[in-house]
Amino acid sequence: MNNLFFIGFMGSGKSAVCGRLHELTGMEVIEMDASIVDSERMSINDIFATKGEQYFRDLETKLLSQISEESRKAVSCGGGAILRPENVELMKKSGKIILLSATPETIYNRVKDTNDRPLLNGNMNIPYISELMQARQPRYTAAADITIDVNGKSLDEICKEILETVGM
Ligand code: S3P
Repeated sequence: MNNLFFIGFMGSGKSAVCGRLHELTGMEVIEMDASIVDSERMSINDIFATKGEQYFRDLETKLLSQISEESRKAVSCGGGAILRPENVELMKKSGKIILLSATPETIYNRVKDTNDRPLLNGNMNIPYISELMQARQPRYTAAADITIDVNGKSLDEICKEILETVGM
């Protein structure tokens, strides 16, 4: 219990925020994507390419079911982890869900030089990011207990706001 689940679009800063929160509070961090890469011994790109997206989504659900038994972890969730209602239930059951909200322009600037996200490879442009974000927005909003606007803020400003909001 008392876990903090960080959700939000790819590149919204979930990993960076969890890393800084670890430095500030000592909270242990669980990186969902990294855990899946470790257990499958395969990159996210390769999992999508060889086993398909549904297989990856099943791994996310399995992992969240394990994480929901944990306590006081800062969990950096994959950007699509909120797509299954059962995943959101698992998060709600064991902690608070914090949405990091960023504009498509902010996201684009952060992800434009990366190639480790299969959904963006070949779609690295603001209109595509905007469209996918709009399609997912209702899920992000419905899942979130707390929303933090990260646009134009430093990592420390964001973390300070999070810690104040959750009362830590
Ligand atoms: C995904 C987000 C990625 C990763 C996978 C799919 C998504 O995680 O789980 O590429 O569907 O939004 P990040 O949000 O950490 O980039």
